Amino acid sequence: MFDIQEIRSQFSILDREVNGKPLVYLDNAATSQKPNSVLEVCHAYYTELNANVHRGIHTLSQLATEEMELSRRKIQKFINAEHDFEVIFTKGTTEGLNLIAYILTQKLQKDDEIIISYLEHHSNIVPWQMLCERTGARLRVIPIDENGVLQLDYLDQYLSEKTKVVSVNQVSNALGIVNPIEEIIAKTRKNSDAYIVIDGAQSAPHFDIDVQKMDCDFFVFSGHKMYAPMGTGILYGKREILEALPPFHGGGEMIATCSFEGTTYAGLPFKYEAGTPNVGGNIALGAAVDFMNRVGRENIQNHENALLEYAQRQLLEIEGLKVYGEKAKRTGVVSFNLEGVGIASDVGMILDKMGIAVRTGHHCTQPIMSFFNIAGTVRASFAVYNTFEEIDRLVEGVKKAQRMLG
Ligand code: ALA
Repeated sequence: MFDIQEIRSQFSILDREVNGKPLVYLDNAATSQKPNSVLEVCHAYYTELNANVHRGIHTLSQLATEEMELSRRKIQKFINAEHDFEVIFTKGTTEGLNLIAYILTQKLQKDDEIIISYLEHHSNIVPWQMLCERTGARLRVIPIDENGVLQLDYLDQYLSEKTKVVSVNQVSNALGIVNPIEEIIAKTRKNSDAYIVIDGAQSAPHFDIDVQKMDCDFFVFSGHKMYAPMGTGILYGKREILEALPPFHGGGEMIATCSFEGTTYAGLPFKYEAGTPNVGGNIALGAAVDFMNRVGRENIQNHENALLEYAQRQLLEIEGLKVYGEKAKRTGVVSFNLEGVGIASDVGMILDKMGIAVRTGHHCTQPIMSFFNIAGTVRASFAVYNTFEEIDRLVEGVKKAQRMLG
């Protein structure tokens, strides 16, 4: 049974007002709100359990370690990784992508190629540009068509023995477009030996993830976009790949032995987890997974898809409103502009006065904005606790903005 009011009652923040109006929170692609069960786990951690992990003989340290490792196993199950030690705690997708780009440095040389797509967030562009600067490799970018859909015949053209990395997102943060990653992975496996990296920042909150079935080499996502605290995230990597590659950060926790003559590294996952981790946050990420499992991932997906369809239908009835990627397969996001009426941030400010939170601007995807020849969009993005009434308020707000700015 999917009971939206019961779900909403688990998010205290949804009861607050903003600018004298009930909050309508539609900025979930930037960060989701956190259910009380996750907040309680954070509170309980610091009031009852706080200690450093993997280091102490004392009881609190052992209890904190057990809880964090239990959380790792919940996440292993959540993404269907083969081993729990393939699940590395990070502070978010950006750190995960930078980590991968860094540890692959020795694997690339001049004139090798890295393939990404036009739909990437800056965090799946810049780390690869930096890798190109370090190695002399070159970036190739799969273009999009006017619907925002990837033109995969370019992938066919680009793939060769020079291709060392293919890194694409499963869902675009700016437009919500769902990319055909099964096809991208199959083509890449067939035509190259490239490492395959999937940015799951905008898919893990919405979809069932099965990294074994997907057959990617790396999969990264953020906790804070899927009901967990900020500063949490996951890097999944295949065992044999992570074992063969060098560490990222050096420091405590990631060593087996250390002397001035040299250091040997710990096994997985600790080799990639130098320093004190975000223990409370990592445990709370496990609680966020519990929340999603309780609601049911199919229920989450069905509800969010219904919201998206409803929002798009209502918004498109507004004359002069353009939805980017209107005809593409999408999830969680509707990104739009009122043609000839002010700029996206003007619309966002009027909505904010009505208690409606959306993101406006380039959404850290300037190449997409350049492609459509715009400075930015208004982006409404959904989570499981959003309602059809909230979409009605959004539509009403957009109409009001059009009247005020027109
Ligand atoms: N990447 C986040 C967004 O799309 C912050 O808003």
